[in-house]
Amino acid sequence: MDRILIRGRNRLSGRVPISGAKNAALTLMPCAILTDEPLTLRNLPRLADVDGFGHLLNQLGASTAIEGTRPDEFGRVMTIRAGKVTSTEAPYDIVRKMRASILVLGPILAREGRARVSLPGGCAIGNRPIDLHLKALEALGAELEFTSGYVEARAPHGRLPGGRYTFPVVSVGATENALMAAATAGGSSCLDNAAREPEIVDLCRCLVAMGARIEGIGTERLEVEGVDRLHGATYAVMPDRIEAGSYACAAVIAGGDLTLAGADAAEMGATLAALRSMGAEVEEVPGGIRVAAEGRPKPLELSTAPYPGFATDMQAQFMAVLALADGTSVLTETIFENRYMHVPELARMGADVRVSGRTAVVRGVTGLTGAPVMATDLRASMSLILAGLAAEGETQVSRVYHLDRGYERLEEKLSAVGADIERASDG
Ligand code: UD1
Repeated sequence: MDRILIRGRNRLSGRVPISGAKNAALTLMPCAILTDEPLTLRNLPRLADVDGFGHLLNQLGASTAIEGTRPDEFGRVMTIRAGKVTSTEAPYDIVRKMRASILVLGPILAREGRARVSLPGGCAIGNRPIDLHLKALEALGAELEFTSGYVEARAPHGRLPGGRYTFPVVSVGATENALMAAATAGGSSCLDNAAREPEIVDLCRCLVAMGARIEGIGTERLEVEGVDRLHGATYAVMPDRIEAGSYACAAVIAGGDLTLAGADAAEMGATLAALRSMGAEVEEVPGGIRVAAEGRPKPLELSTAPYPGFATDMQAQFMAVLALADGTSVLTETIFENRYMHVPELARMGADVRVSGRTAVVRGVTGLTGAPVMATDLRASMSLILAGLAAEGETQVSRVYHLDRGYERLEEKLSAVGADIERASDG
C-alpha cells in the first residue's frame, strides 16, 4: 500500500491549480441517468471516487468515455450515455465503499419508475443515516419497501407525481436526491429548508442546462416544475472549494505565499473569513485567490454549520493549523458526531487537543514533530498532511487511498510549490 512521506518545514510559494469539485462531480454524474442523450462533464477531477462512480454507472447500463486531456493536465472530460438503463440496482458491494452511490436512487427511480439500492451502513465519521433521502422521495410520491438490506422504491404508474417536503435538518445528499427525482416528475415539487451549498447550485445549473425547470436556486426553497424529458448537455464542474481551502491552510501552517488558481472566493466566504482571523493575508486575484502567511497563526473559535456556515469538510484541516496557534482555539462539530478521528494522530505529532462531546479545545504548541500516522477518512488524512508540512523531521501518512478519493495529485501539487513530499509504494 502507498504511503506519503513529508519532510516538513519548507516554505511554500507559487501557484496551485484547483481541480473540479469532488462533491459536485459525484452529484452531476448521476444526472446522466435522467436522459437517454449524452451528458458531457468538463473539469471532472481525476479521483478514485469519480472512477468508482463511473463503474457504478456502467453497471446500470450507461457508457462512460473519457476524452482528450493529456496526462500532465489536471481534470478530464467525461461523456456519459445512458441510452438505456439495463439495471435498476446499486449493489451493496459498491454502495458500502462509496456512500455517494446512494445518489443514483432518485435518478433511477425517475427514469425507470423503480430502483433497488443497497442501504449504505455505517461510516467512519458518524452514523450518516439516509432517512431524509427516503422521506423526501416518499413525499414526491415514491412507495418504499425494505428487504435484505436494500431499499426498493417504486413510482406509482411508472412516474413520480411530485410533491412538497420540508427537510427537518439541512441535508446536502437528500436535497440532491430529491432534486434529481423531481426534475422529471409528473407535477410540481417544492423542497423547503433545502441545502444551499454551492454544489447544490452546480447541480441545479446542470439540470437546468438539461432542460429542467427550477426556481429558487441558491435559496432554501427549491421549486421544481417537472418536465416530460431532459436532454443532453455539456457542463463544467465547479472548482473544489474544499481542496482550495485545504491548500490555503497549507500556506498558513507552513508559511508562504500561494495562489489558488481557479478557486472562487464567492463560494468560500466562511473559510476565507477564518483564514483572515488567523492572521493570513487573503486577496482575490485575477483567476483565483492569493493566501500568504508568516509566523504562528492566531487562535480561533469555529463551529461547523451548513452553507454559508463553516464547512464540516474544513474542520480537520483547520484543527491542524490551530494546533500551532499562539493561544487556545475551540472547535465545535455540529454536523457529524464522530468527526474527530484525526485528534489522536495529531496528538502523536505533538498537538494538544482535548475532545469533549462535539467540542475540541486546541491549545496551540510551538512545534510539531514528524511521525508515522494514519487516518480513517479523507479530510482527516489531509489534516495529517498539513501537520506534516509544518513538523520537524519526517511524517509518513499511510492509508493514502483516502486522499486519492478526494485530492487530485496531491503530492505533485505540493512539491511544485516547494514541499518535500513524495509517494512511496510498498509494492
Ligand atoms: C455532508 C456535509 C457536506 C459534506 C459531506 C462530506 C453539511 C450540511 N453536509 O453532506 O458539506 O461535503 O458531508 O463530508 O455540512 N442526516 C440525516 N438523515 C439523512 C441525511 C442526513 O439525519 O437522511 C443528517 C446527517 O447525519 C448529518 C446532517 O443530516 O448530521 C447533514 O448530512 P448531509 O448533508 O446529508 O450529509 P452529506 O450529504 O454527506
